[in-house]
Amino acid sequence: MRVIVEKDYDGMSKKAAQIVAEVVREKPDCVLGLATGSTPLGLYRELIRMHKEEGLDFSRVKTFNLDEYYGLPPNHPQSYNYFMHQHLFDHINIAPQNINIPNGLARDAEAFCAEYERMIKDAGGIDIQVLGIGGDGHIAFNEPGSSLGSRTRLKTLTEETIRDNARFFSSMEEVPKFAITMGVGTILEARRCLLLANGSKKAKVLAQAIEGPITAQVTASALQLHPNVIVIADEEATSELKRKDYYAHVERMTEKLKDILASAEGLIYGGGIKE
Ligand code: PGA
Repeated sequence: MRVIVEKDYDGMSKKAAQIVAEVVREKPDCVLGLATGSTPLGLYRELIRMHKEEGLDFSRVKTFNLDEYYGLPPNHPQSYNYFMHQHLFDHINIAPQNINIPNGLARDAEAFCAEYERMIKDAGGIDIQVLGIGGDGHIAFNEPGSSLGSRTRLKTLTEETIRDNARFFSSMEEVPKFAITMGVGTILEARRCLLLANGSKKAKVLAQAIEGPITAQVTASALQLHPNVIVIADEEATSELKRKDYYAHVERMTEKLKDILASAEGLIYGGGIKE
């Protein structure tokens, strides 16, 4: 697990956008896994800027969103479908048929979820999955107690999540109590995961997720099992990490190693590695 600590939200968002843009440039028909919530807003703003100013091309990119509230129509202002169009899709050149978001109105949710899994497979799997982390440690809507092998399914939201989400609705009664969400097992199959966290509110849960035991009680901790995870977080969110200094050291040393291996001598420790 690579942990990149950025000074603030802006730095986190720009770093995340660089990584996603690199995937898009290297593989123009890549499959992006996308998240909603306040965390990735800056990432999406930066991707829009890169599209407009640098010609970052999304015309062949496919996307799969992690989750959607169950019971909200796609044109509801609080639906994740609406969110994604408002904050990303309406501002880039993605083909509408390449956008996939769980259907919050699927009457047969089980059949829909199986179909969503099949669609991800048919698209060749997710190249990079963007993730936020919930106050209760969830990734997507995999609430505490979700199986670490879970697949896309209908999930009942915790009271904490409902409370967290209430700020977007005019009353508690209006906040959806269910969601369709990719499972932890679905997420772990992405080739790479990009976990973003900012703000002091996430400090404790981020430490639990990346330095605590792997547990279904903090489903983000399952990312410790994934071979290719990048965590990008700001100073505030990383304030409770025990190994923060080491993560920064790893980043510096990785750069240094690249320089050493690219240098004419190409050697380490008196003759270790030579051309
Ligand atoms: P947030 O939500 O980005 O709005 O903090 C994260 C999440 O619940 O996954």
